[in-house]
Amino acid sequence: MAHTAGVRPSTERNTQGAAKSGKSGKMDNSEFHHFFMDEVKDIYWAEKHLMKALPKMKKAATSPELAQAFDKHTHDTQMHIEALEQIFGLMGEKPAVKKCEAMEGLLTETDTMISATDRDTMTRDAGLIMAAQKMEHYEIATYGTLRAFAKNMGRTDVVSLLQKTLDNEKATDVALTEIAERRINEQASEE
Ligand SMILES: [Fe+2]
Ligand SMILES: [Fe+2]
Repeated sequence: MAHTAGVRPSTERNTQGAAKSGKSGKMDNSEFHHFFMDEVKDIYWAEKHLMKALPKMKKAATSPELAQAFDKHTHDTQMHIEALEQIFGLMGEKPAVKKCEAMEGLLTETDTMISATDRDTMTRDAGLIMAAQKMEHYEIATYGTLRAFAKNMGRTDVVSLLQKTLDNEKATDVALTEIAERRINEQASEE
């Protein structure tokens, strides 16, 4: 990835105090380090807001099977938040958020979908699964790219944390597809 060697004024970005040296031994005050951390802050915001939305999605679900899947998803999301907090620590920074416009949009779409579908219908559940999978795919793209970036930075400790979350996001996506295809999509199409 091409990036310029431009150095930002320390007052603009480096609000956490002096840059620390990473495990790789390289200074962490590079443009790429700041870019990487901004993206970590973005997904941290996204996970935290997803954490708040999942109980609403569970409450809106028709089938107990989907409600249960959202419970597991909530538990998993808490793990993802904790993994990101570990990453902040490993990178020598305090956890901080940066508003994720994409997740905000996906959450707004979810609210709109809930309002537009009737309670106790399978169409509602099909819509909830679609919404959850859109979020999963956003997370998969983000974690996959962050993992690649961490690899480039020589941060194997961060790579393994990101890999674990990425694997879990992928498993959630597969589980949602299975729930949808087992019964919900078929029943929804008959409503
Ligand atoms: Fe997540
Ligand atoms: Fe984002």
